[in-house]
Amino acid sequence: MKVLGIETSCDECSASVVEDGEKIVSNVIATQIPYHAPWNGVVPEIASRKHTEWIYAVTKEALDKAELDVTDIDAVAVTNRPGLFGSLLVGLSFAKAFAWARDIPFIAVDHMLAHLYAPRLLPVNKEQITNISDQRPEYPFLGLLVSGGHTIICRADNFDDITVLGTTIDDAAGEAFDKVAKFYNFGYPGGAVIDKMARNGDSGAFNFPMPSLHKGDHRYDVSYSGLKNAVINQIDLFKKKKGGHTNEDIAASFQKTAVQILLRALFNAVQDTALTVIVAGGGVAANSFLRFRLAEHDNLRCIFPPLDLCGDNAAMIAGIGYQYLIRGERSSLNVTASARVGGFKKKYP
Ligand code: KG4
Ligand code: ZN
Repeated sequence: MKVLGIETSCDECSASVVEDGEKIVSNVIATQIPYHAPWNGVVPEIASRKHTEWIYAVTKEALDKAELDVTDIDAVAVTNRPGLFGSLLVGLSFAKAFAWARDIPFIAVDHMLAHLYAPRLLPVNKEQITNISDQRPEYPFLGLLVSGGHTIICRADNFDDITVLGTTIDDAAGEAFDKVAKFYNFGYPGGAVIDKMARNGDSGAFNFPMPSLHKGDHRYDVSYSGLKNAVINQIDLFKKKKGGHTNEDIAASFQKTAVQILLRALFNAVQDTALTVIVAGGGVAANSFLRFRLAEHDNLRCIFPPLDLCGDNAAMIAGIGYQYLIRGERSSLNVTASARVGGFKKKYP
């Protein structure tokens, strides 16, 4: 079954064709980064407008790359939650129109669940991964969903069955990277820029605080506003008397603490659930220091999707969509978008 996936939840306009839930036939990701860079963050109005302008061409390119015609598509899957409402509506309306015009099955999916599905996909370029069976997780596993809008540590028992263990109580992990980069004028998007700068910096140059969120109900929760403010408050001092430190030192010191915050909550979850397989997803899962720190733990099997499947992409939408479709599930063409993370089971045990 060839499923057309559509993803427009934030600033990536993406369309993909995936066969039988795993073989990526094409995956086109058009990024809007240059349009949001002048504002150092995603401007929702620009994002939805660009999606409206691009969605037809992006879908056409996905079909052309797959050497398929619209009549070859068996079903349509689309992200309808969570994300920027206006952006979601563009992809959702387009996908509904496509499915209605062709009279084929249509399914609307949650893109956070789709991030956890990403490692099950076979990339077009298979050289990207060395061993596909190493890459594929068995359920249950722990999920680490870290993006610009969300930070979720969860237990996944199936592609559609997750229990949220912890979340951020304030800023998302990616948001902290983006805001620090914005204040220091490092560039946009902040995560990728800081990751790169940090490679040439001294992570011990500044000692930024960890949040004191380690007890009781907050064992798996994270907080980034304290770290973000500490780093931002450092800026005047930093500019006045550099003390031999560089921008790269700030980036490396911030990144070290940001990753440490995630790992503390994640390792609490590992300890309490005895699950040792971790699947990471979302833009921050591209972070090289996070990958390096997790790789140090021989007792854990950490699965990261290839870089182009870490951020938002339509292949993971088509892939997870197929799983619902083969169970006979369909969405109504009346389904609407939702900006919020859906009603997952809360907390563990
Ligand atoms: O999942 P994603 O593409 O979009 C959503 O937010 O849904 O994630 C984007 C986020 C941004 O905050 C970006 O700064 C961050 O992922 N990011 C990174 C890296 N690459 C992207 N954060 C840390 N290290 C990276 N290498
Ligand atoms: Zn995402």
